[in-house]
Amino acid sequence: MSLTHKITFALNGKPVRADADVASSALELLRGAFELGGTKLACGEGECGACTIIVDGRSRNSCLMPAVDLEGREVLTVEGLWREDGIDPVQQAFVDEGAIQCGFCTPGMIMQTKYLLSRNPDLTAEEAERGLEGNVCRCTGYKKIIAAAIGAGTGARD
Ligand code: FES
Ligand code: FES
Repeated sequence: MSLTHKITFALNGKPVRADADVASSALELLRGAFELGGTKLACGEGECGACTIIVDGRSRNSCLMPAVDLEGREVLTVEGLWREDGIDPVQQAFVDEGAIQCGFCTPGMIMQTKYLLSRNPDLTAEEAERGLEGNVCRCTGYKKIIAAAIGAGTGARD
């Protein structure tokens, strides 16, 4: 028998409610109850960053975060980057730099980049490398990803 808690939180700018299973992760809740498949499950152990979301302004591995801990938080997933006037500057920078192959790591890379740029819009290559070292890509190598993170800085300021 599973035990659930009713939780309320802000998801991509909108107030939401959910029955959160105490044994479930935030990742499972977002992908299941809210059908937000952009946040990926890869390692499930906090080692790859594919599940990165932003909670109260900080990046988190949603596979390790209990769903019930979303109570009262402000949560941003990659789906929340959609803008009326087009895609987010960070997403555009990944496209422009060709920093995507299979794309499985990309939402996590983009969310981590958003977080890094929110703290420092003028990332150096070294800072971008350090900030993204918890995000694993099996396809592209990291050169283009780092270039995208740095290149996104200007557009991400607005
Ligand atoms: S799926 Fe969460 S860190 Fe890998
Ligand atoms: S683009 Fe395939 S894992 Fe990164």
